[in-house]
Parts: sequence; structure tokens; C-alpha cells
Amino acid sequence: MAERRLRQRTRRQAGIWQRKLNRYRERQRQIEASAPDILRSKNFNRMKEYIQHGDMTVNSHVMDVARYSIALSEKLHIHCSRRELIRGALLHDYFLYDWHIPDYENPHRLHGFYHPGVALRNASQEYCLTEREKDIIRKHMWPLTVVPPGCREAWIVTAADKWCSLLETLHMHRGHGVILDKLKEG
Ligand SMILES: [Fe+2]
Ligand SMILES: [Fe+2]
Repeated sequence: MAERRLRQRTRRQAGIWQRKLNRYRERQRQIEASAPDILRSKNFNRMKEYIQHGDMTVNSHVMDVARYSIALSEKLHIHCSRRELIRGALLHDYFLYDWHIPDYENPHRLHGFYHPGVALRNASQEYCLTEREKDIIRKHMWPLTVVPPGCREAWIVTAADKWCSLLETLHMHRGHGVILDKLKEG
């Protein structure tokens, strides 16, 4: 009897994990379909060398924010441009430096205030951004940026970014860190 109940519970648990895995794969597929150019770019992959919070790299962080943004728009049935949502999420922290390592010229003391502008400048140099994508990058640190997001996509990414950052800061969301990525590259 107890064994049968255990088997049932295990099967139910396996079903839950399978559904989670399927959702993860589907979101990953959407990201790959919407931003193949970004995912393959040198600078995007350079973000694997910079830490965001805890041992999470900026690259892993923006991938998580993109997945959470898709999840949020699906769960809340928010109609929005999926492509712009994903591309904006992937580029929202495109500042391309490690804000934990101060250098003489840029001490990164006010990183929280300035990095959306730096990310927007870097992203604009490489990609032809839409107004929504610009809004996502520029306003994602609201309320620090004072002016609130101006479109649904920017609100979603702002919320997903805060949620991911909180989990990373509390070490509830762990990354592989920079060292493993460097080893992987050989
Ligand atoms: Fe940010
Ligand atoms: Fe972020």
C-alpha cells in the first residue's frame, strides 16, 4: 500500500518535472528563434566573463530575465510583442564591464543609475533597436530611472529583472560563475 502510494507520488512528481522541462525548452526555443544574431554575437558571449550578482554571470542573468519575461507574459495573459520583449530582455544589461571591479577612470559607484544608458548606447551601436526595445533597456531600473516604463514589454522586463536579481542576491538562484565558463572555453 505504502509502496503503491510512493510510486504514485514519484510518477506525479516526474510529470511535474517533465512539464517544467518542456516549458523551459519551449521558452529557450522562442529566445533562439527571436534573437539568433544576439545569441551568436561576440559581445553577448563576452558577458559570460562578468558577474552580475552572487556567482551568476551577466550572460546567465539576461537569459533568465528573458525566460521569466516570457513566463510572466504567459501567466498574466499580457499581449505584447514577444520578439521585442525577448530582444530587450537580452540586451537590458549590455553594459559590457564587471561592475564589481572598479577601475581608475570608471569607479562604477553609481552603476545602478548609469548602466541602463551605457547598455542602450552599446546595444544601439550593434543593433537596429525598436522604440520598445529602447524603452526596455532605458527604463528597466525603474524607479531609479525616475521615468516609468512606457510600454507593456518594458514593465514585464522590469518586473522579471527585479525578481531574478532578488533570487540571485539571496543565493536562491545560482549560476556557474565565471571560472567554469572560462574553463569550458579552454
Ligand atoms: Fe540592469
Ligand atoms: Fe538585469
